[in-house]
Amino acid sequence: MTRHVRTAIFPVAGLGTRFLPATKATPKELLPVLDTPLIQYAVDEARNAGIERMVFVSHPSKGAIERHVMEDARLTRELRERGKADVADALTNAAFCPRDDDVRFVMQTEPKGLGHAVLCARDEVLPGPVAVILPDDLILGPVGCLAEMIDAYETGKVGHLVATMEVPEDRVHRYGVLSGVEPDGVILKATGMVEKPKPEDAPSRHAVVGRYILDPAIFDALETQEPGAGDEIQLTDAIARGADSLGLGGFQFSGVRFDCGSKAGMLHATLELAMDDPDCAEVLKSRGLVSSRTDAVAA
Ligand code: UTP
Repeated sequence: MTRHVRTAIFPVAGLGTRFLPATKATPKELLPVLDTPLIQYAVDEARNAGIERMVFVSHPSKGAIERHVMEDARLTRELRERGKADVADALTNAAFCPRDDDVRFVMQTEPKGLGHAVLCARDEVLPGPVAVILPDDLILGPVGCLAEMIDAYETGKVGHLVATMEVPEDRVHRYGVLSGVEPDGVILKATGMVEKPKPEDAPSRHAVVGRYILDPAIFDALETQEPGAGDEIQLTDAIARGADSLGLGGFQFSGVRFDCGSKAGMLHATLELAMDDPDCAEVLKSRGLVSSRTDAVAA
């Protein structure tokens, strides 16, 4: 079977409760880090990784996501008429064109969990393994996380590959954590995954974050997956069930990950990117908030 990853799934149908009231009318995935919405970073990462088909699993109340990712001919025409061709070009380059790009939207009408959201994409994916990108996990670095994961997947031998990072012991309870970990080339082979363990029960400190490359057998597993934590269909449960038969690996990406589903993570990401923006960096320095990029990363 091919190990070529052609499809990326973006689950964007969640309620975003941790960011209320900001997410009452604005989808969490459109919250900006500086001037760029989270979903744009995710789309750019997938494009940079050579993904052919993008499948968004959205909700009818979140139509603004579709409006953001697709080109807006009226807006770009008006910008050009006002002499802002450079802004119009930038918007056009960042957006999908309905004629040239392979983009699908499916609806998850009830937020039954991440696993259920991925299952909703089943009829729209191309043959072969699929990538899943959670836009609220922003991963910044010189090499895109998905691109480096795809390289590792295509040469590796596991069916499911999940992005992992080492976290301090007192944080393992916030993550899915790999068990039975053994290094094997560029990946960490694992025998399973434990969701949000207590520090004393954690089988490792290799925490799973929001990038996955999954064997297509994941869809059959999700069809029969019972609700788990929070009474939701959990993607991690279905991945863990396939660990024995398909092989499970962790990939230690080279970038820095920001949990933009939380206020602290969003602030951290904003500080990090503000250092690259001359006006914003000036503000940070004038307030004595950060004096260098390294300080921003450690904030
Ligand atoms: P999260 O659990 O971080 O998002 O899911 P959430 O549920 O929207 O946020 P909180 O916890 O209530 O604040 C990660 C990603 O999975 C999507 C979300 O939209 C987010 O992009 N998701 C989650 C779905 O598409 N459907 C779901 O049922 C759950």
